[in-house]
Amino acid sequence: MKIFFILITSFFITPSTSSDTLTATQILRTNQTLLSQNKTFVLGFFRGSNTNYYLGIWYHNFNPQSIVWVANRDNPIDNSTGYLKFGDQGNFLLLNSSGKPAWSSNTTAAKNPLLQLLDTGNLVLKDSSDNTNDNNYLWQSFDYPTDTFLPGMKLGWDFDKGTEKHLTSWKITGEDPSSGDYTMKIDYHGLPEAFLRRNQTIIFRTGPWNGERFSGAPGMIQDQSNDLKFNFTYDEHGVFYYYSVTKPSMFSRTIVTSDSNVGELQRYMLVQGSWTKFWYEPEAPCDYYGECGPYGVCDKNGSPICTCMHGFSPKNQEAWNLNNGSEGCVRNTPLNCSTDKFLHRQNMKLPETTNVYVNKSMTLDECGSLCKRNCSCTAYANTDIRNGGTGCVMWVGQLFDMSVFPSNGQDLYVRLSASDIGSNKNHRVIEAIGITLGALVIVLGLVAICYLRNKKQQRSRGHDSLMNEIYSGGVERNMDDLELPMFDFDTLTMATNNFSQDNKLGEGGFGSVYRGRLIEGREIAVKRLSEDSRQGILEFKNEVKLIIKLQHRNLVRLLGCCIEKEEKMLVYEYMENKGLDSILYDKSKRHLLNWERRFNIIYGIARGLLYLHQDSRFRIIHRDLKTSNILLDGEMNPKISDFGMARIFDKDEIQTKTLRIVGTYGYMAPEYAMYGKFSIKSDVFSFGVMVLEIITGKKNRGCSDDNTEELNLLENIWRHWHKGTVMKLIDPSISNSYTESEVVRCIHIGLLCIQERAEDRPTMSSVVLMLSNEAPSMSNPKTPGFSARKTHSDIDSSSSRQDETWSVNEVTITVLDAR
Ligand SMILES: *[C@@H]1O[C@H](CO)[C@@H](O)[C@H](O)[C@H]1NC(C)=O
Ligand SMILES: *[C@@H]1O[C@H](CO)[C@@H](O)[C@H](O)[C@H]1NC(C)=O
Ligand SMILES: *[C@@H]1O[C@H](CO)[C@@H](O)[C@H](O)[C@H]1NC(C)=O
Ligand SMILES: *[C@@H]1O[C@H](CO)[C@@H](O)[C@H](O)[C@H]1NC(C)=O
Ligand SMILES: *[C@@H]1O[C@H](CO)[C@@H](O)[C@H](O)[C@H]1NC(C)=O
Ligand SMILES: *[C@@H]1O[C@H](CO)[C@@H](O)[C@H](O)[C@H]1NC(C)=O
Ligand SMILES: *[C@@H]1O[C@H](CO)[C@@H](O)[C@H](O)[C@H]1NC(C)=O
Ligand SMILES: *[C@@H]1O[C@H](CO)[C@@H](O)[C@H](O)[C@H]1NC(C)=O
Ligand SMILES: *[C@@H]1O[C@H](CO)[C@@H](O)[C@H](O)[C@H]1NC(C)=O
Ligand SMILES: *[C@@H]1O[C@H](CO)[C@@H](O)[C@H](O)[C@H]1NC(C)=O
Ligand SMILES: *[C@@H]1O[C@H](CO)[C@@H](O)[C@H](O)[C@H]1NC(C)=O
Repeated sequence: MKIFFILITSFFITPSTSSDTLTATQILRTNQTLLSQNKTFVLGFFRGSNTNYYLGIWYHNFNPQSIVWVANRDNPIDNSTGYLKFGDQGNFLLLNSSGKPAWSSNTTAAKNPLLQLLDTGNLVLKDSSDNTNDNNYLWQSFDYPTDTFLPGMKLGWDFDKGTEKHLTSWKITGEDPSSGDYTMKIDYHGLPEAFLRRNQTIIFRTGPWNGERFSGAPGMIQDQSNDLKFNFTYDEHGVFYYYSVTKPSMFSRTIVTSDSNVGELQRYMLVQGSWTKFWYEPEAPCDYYGECGPYGVCDKNGSPICTCMHGFSPKNQEAWNLNNGSEGCVRNTPLNCSTDKFLHRQNMKLPETTNVYVNKSMTLDECGSLCKRNCSCTAYANTDIRNGGTGCVMWVGQLFDMSVFPSNGQDLYVRLSASDIGSNKNHRVIEAIGITLGALVIVLGLVAICYLRNKKQQRSRGHDSLMNEIYSGGVERNMDDLELPMFDFDTLTMATNNFSQDNKLGEGGFGSVYRGRLIEGREIAVKRLSEDSRQGILEFKNEVKLIIKLQHRNLVRLLGCCIEKEEKMLVYEYMENKGLDSILYDKSKRHLLNWERRFNIIYGIARGLLYLHQDSRFRIIHRDLKTSNILLDGEMNPKISDFGMARIFDKDEIQTKTLRIVGTYGYMAPEYAMYGKFSIKSDVFSFGVMVLEIITGKKNRGCSDDNTEELNLLENIWRHWHKGTVMKLIDPSISNSYTESEVVRCIHIGLLCIQERAEDRPTMSSVVLMLSNEAPSMSNPKTPGFSARKTHSDIDSSSSRQDETWSVNEVTITVLDAR
């Protein structure tokens, strides 16, 4: 795919048309382009990987080329030249070298047609003799979207004109522009919502629009910055979905991709010159359509993820036990109609709304009584959550494809037999006991953690267990052996001077690291894995192949490995300035890191982490981020090292529980330290700790256990942040190199990253945006989850929130976890 980009970008010859219009007498050849007025977009010909020509629009001067529109996607002109010209019916045509049309725009009434490429990326056809109405285009490319949804475009149905617009993926994104299998289309039946389909099969459903966002895709709306504005309208004239950017310097595109039989809806934003993936669906298993079947509710934090709605039981208990919830649930007690009651569920993704009754002017009470009177009504909810909730949507029949969100779902009222509602009370009581028990166990767990930490030096777990974990992820098992660079044992022995003590750079839980120099002069770092690793050769090779594919300027590069004589070694590029901790905490060296460098380090770590979390093909969670795992090159550029702990995730696995807790106290997120629950958000927590350490030059010490008055670093920062005296904590060695606003912003971001609840922490893409943006609106941090005593009281108060994750089952597991 990358090769392809280079191929097509190198193909364009300097634009020979400098204006932004093409008039009736002009033609555009394959070696020419048309620029938009402010040179944001360009119209021209590009070649697909099949070497055929396509007419398309892409961002000007931007590498890799990001094509937003293709005219003749299913009818390319062959590799000889073609051209674009006007026809005699107010249309414009794409002709091949023998003058036969490969594509045509619709005919118009224009006498003097004129093509213009706008800075929005919209190619419009106007009549040059008609200067009256500037925005009344006779034809526009925005009416014929391909796979890209741009600000200013409208997707959906126009009932007045009888038109419909949707997105269709490329056959292979980045390679073959012809119409692919994936579509994103809005359905107007019932309460409108959008579906991502592969051919006719629904993969993902956004849920209906609730006035603010799609009910089933809260992440589709940016929460950290208000630079994008979304809107969805539906009435008798049509159903439209569109968005806009509030700053002209902001670029955003949403595409439907198709790559290796995976189709996704993805939103990118341009951040400091590169496209950052901000959001995509389907993301978690719960996002897949019908994951838990009729009346099943999917909870991505649950284990298993599917549960039955209260008053229902699994239809197929056997499949359910095997984590296959697709057959869903059945009612425990049949409905009676006159005596039925309604169960109030909060934070839901509403069930599918294709077959519903909607009245936008009813209140919730009217809705409820209408539903109660109609025996076939199974549930109801508001259509709009704004202004305390308005409108009425009523389901008849099965409730399908529901999920629960931690905080930003909707209220749903589900019809149940009165006897089932009754038993719900007991359920609540049990829950309450569970929560109290949970709090108790947390306290015990914390005591145990602090005790263990005091007792012995924290020791990382064996390599083998980690590798087993990685392999349970089921990531590509049979990759080709050829791509793995192998080093000879003797070569490495020689390079490291027989693994001499002088060459030793350090020692970690996974083995020792040696500095080495190959005969040709290249410096390397060799990690000799501890011998007790019982992992098989094949698994080891597979892991290495996977890590080798991760390449980013903020990640330490793995060059290869060596497997010989019962030994396993990893060979990395050598980093001149070693670990960040070796400079940051060294009184004689810390001055080398002025504020600019520190900011650069923070930003670099964020980029590297974003890559691991989101941009690489695999979702990787580092799990042991700390300053000693950030290496610095000769120019003090940060590189994240030691993916040893990383648990490699399947694409659709978002949070996993582990019975073994690896990591370093002081950097561990509360839910990880206590429950062994880790997710990308636990890395965000560790990142936040590092940011605060980098700014203050002080080490966070986890539990402040030695009865000194010196507070834990995070707690200390939080206190000063509250009092407005946080600048007192800045490392004195940067005192003359910083801009106060920048430092405060970084502390602010650091505090957001160490929030107690994982859902309150931003994702790395938001962090990158916050770091790079001059004046984003950032939410105010709440009390962070620092450690021990504070955490405990915070959890107490959260028990009233009825957080579903504190179930009795997990409490049991917690006891095991804490040892
Ligand atoms: C574009 O191609 C045409 C013939 O196909 C040629 O005559 C013309 O010189 C080329 N223009 C440029 C700028 O290369
Ligand atoms: C083009 O750029 C100029 C200067 O930045 C700006 O004033 C103008 O509004 C832009 N025009 C369009 C169509 O974006
Ligand atoms: C066009 O494609 C044909 C077959 O794919 C190839 O033989 C020919 O060399 C190509 N011509 C050019 C100008 O690329
Ligand atoms: C141009 O298109 C016509 C009709 O599609 C086709 O028959 C012809 O072979 C094409 N000419 C070239 C040179 O590709
Ligand atoms: C406009 O052209 C497209 C193909 O470019 C075609 O599918 C569509 O039916 C045409 N619409 C009208 C109104 O002719
Ligand atoms: C989708 O439809 C296309 C064209 O009919 C077919 O080639 C492809 O195999 C289908 N894909 C799936 C997953 O059914
Ligand atoms: C959406 O558009 C409608 C009609 O233009 C407008 O009344 C409404 O305020 C907009 N909503 C948002 C959230 O911008
Ligand atoms: C789950 O069960 C359904 C029917 O019971 C079956 O069609 C489907 O293939 C199963 N899914 C998996 C992943 O086993
Ligand atoms: C519903 O419940 C009432 C009261 O228990 C009972 O009298 C009635 O027969 C029930 N109706 C049905 C259809 O079961
Ligand atoms: C919607 O509900 C309102 C208030 O109950 C009622 O006046 C109106 O007729 C209803 N509209 C439709 C289309 O049923
Ligand atoms: C119940 O509501 C459905 C959906 O609006 C409607 O089709 C049906 O006629 C209603 N039944 C009764 C008895 O009102």
